[in-house]
Amino acid sequence: MSDSREYGVGMIGFGGIARVHAYAHASLPFLYRPAPFSTELRGVCTSRGETAMAAMGEGHFQFATTDASELIARPDIDVIHVCTPNDSHRELAIAALEAGKHVYCEKPLADGLDGAREMLDVASSSGRTHQVTFQYRFVPAIMRAKQLVDEGLVGAPLAFRFCYLHAGYTDGQRPMSWRLDADKSGGGALFDLGSHAIDLVQHLVGDVTRVSAALPTFVHDRPVTAGSEDRAPVHVDDHAVMLMETDTGAVGTVEASRVATGTTDDLTLEIHGTNGALKFDLMDPNWLHVYDARAGGSPIGGRRGYTKVQTVQEYPAPAALPSPKATVGWLRFHIASLHAFMTNVHEGRVGDPSFADGAAVQAVLEAAQTSHQTGSWAEVPEIARPFPT
Ligand SMILES: NC(=O)c1ccc[n+]([C@@H]2O[C@H](COP(=O)([O-])OP(=O)(O)OC[C@H]3O[C@@H](n4cnc5c(N)ncnc54)[C@H](O)[C@@H]3O)[C@@H](O)[C@H]2O)c1
Repeated sequence: MSDSREYGVGMIGFGGIARVHAYAHASLPFLYRPAPFSTELRGVCTSRGETAMAAMGEGHFQFATTDASELIARPDIDVIHVCTPNDSHRELAIAALEAGKHVYCEKPLADGLDGAREMLDVASSSGRTHQVTFQYRFVPAIMRAKQLVDEGLVGAPLAFRFCYLHAGYTDGQRPMSWRLDADKSGGGALFDLGSHAIDLVQHLVGDVTRVSAALPTFVHDRPVTAGSEDRAPVHVDDHAVMLMETDTGAVGTVEASRVATGTTDDLTLEIHGTNGALKFDLMDPNWLHVYDARAGGSPIGGRRGYTKVQTVQEYPAPAALPSPKATVGWLRFHIASLHAFMTNVHEGRVGDPSFADGAAVQAVLEAAQTSHQTGSWAEVPEIARPFPT
């Protein structure tokens, strides 16, 4: 184990998700003990001077700027968080890697596959840690699902259905934002929520090789600002429905939506294989449902049936708080994801999920858009993944 060390942290962007990342840094020393490293929030960059100053106060950073290159150039910053809209991830992450920083980048990796490939190229030759915030890989139930898949519980995967459903954009009066602007986001529900679900498919089932997608937009224009009479056109999808095949021989569906009335944060997955099956529901995150087809079915059903495994808060050491028997929730997944990233930084490893995993998701996102435009199946270009998954 390396000597204890303090890492200086710089955040670019301080909106909704950067606050979660800052909270996660502040939580690390309480939740993980003993800790061979510590982190300090040193600098923050936002797009306007007043938000930068407010962010500095809120996050207890030591300095604030509106110039990302100033933040990246500072020698007291070791780690850069990219927490800005999708169209700026490429430029910021590459600048940070080229300056010798480790990069924790929000999802989706970029606003398009070309940008994601470029980020992966620079990351691969940088010798630095690069990781994408696919925090659902750090849900204990998903961590257990991955172990069981690797141990052969599912066998050969045959079929799957993953959904990530929100309802927040059902209201046509909800105003425009960067998420609804194709130039800034690259895509709608597909990029926002579909990226998480596709990463989980590739983590648990196999790499997607081809996809057939429908990406409808239901609300075609929205107020330019809250309450405005002026409306701007929306060119991103509200809802994504995809049929997919994987290199492991499975076929399945992924659905992502921001207009799924009645849902809140509904991420569900089901995998069926030759030996067994798995089910998970983010709204009930303490359990992984496991079916072993090899269990005896007699007499009277024997012990056959789904087992509700109590994965609750079962993080491995050095996780020390909350107790492993306690219920688990959304912020905890982000803290676990950040802890994994910082451990990789400290131990000199590539991130996991790395930019290669992020680019592999981006390849599926782009193929889905191609499929929607052409009305045909689209092949997913292969992204070499030399890093652990
Ligand atoms: N992993 C998750 O669960 C999750 C959740 C929400 C958002 N995200 C991702 O996080 C990213 C940011 O989303 P958000 O919801 O926090 O957005 P947001 O609109 O709340 O905040 C964006 C921030 O970026 C700043 N910004 C914009 N352009 C900038 C630039 N060029 N340089 C410096 N600062 C700039 C803004 O000032 C603002 O502080 C997106 O990529 C999004 O997909 C991930």
